Amino acid sequence: MEIDINELIKSAVVARKNAYAPYSDFYVGAALLADSGKIYTGSNVENASYPVGICAERSAFAAALSAGERNFSAIALIGGKNGGRVEKFCYPCGMCRQFMSEFCKSDFRIISAKSEKEYEIYTLGELLPKCFDLDV
Ligand code: THU
Repeated sequence: MEIDINELIKSAVVARKNAYAPYSDFYVGAALLADSGKIYTGSNVENASYPVGICAERSAFAAALSAGERNFSAIALIGGKNGGRVEKFCYPCGMCRQFMSEFCKSDFRIISAKSEKEYEIYTLGELLPKCFDLDV
């Protein structure tokens, strides 16, 4: 599956505008490329009961999985404090990495962006080596 990195990052930037993050003031957008060619976006959605909130990456996966998608090739994410430009690369939290491992192989691409032009690419295998699974 050909990955249009710029398009994926653009979608993550748009999704970030819809983040609901009044408690952390940290706004994250994610764009997930399914093997169907469709892009599904997500943003972080916080809650007054803090642990109830959900990360942008899992929001994007939930949207895609709910639409029937099961195969994925890449996700782009961008996150930072509200206002101004994003200064630092943002990486998926441990819970999101484990969530991804349920549906994605180790060559799944994770693109962390500061802008359309500034990004880093990793594989899920690099960010989550030796993930948990129930195979014995
Ligand atoms: N967050 C994400 O959306 N993705 C991550 O991978 C890490 C953290 C969100 C959760 C919370 O709303 C805010 O960033 C600060 O932790």
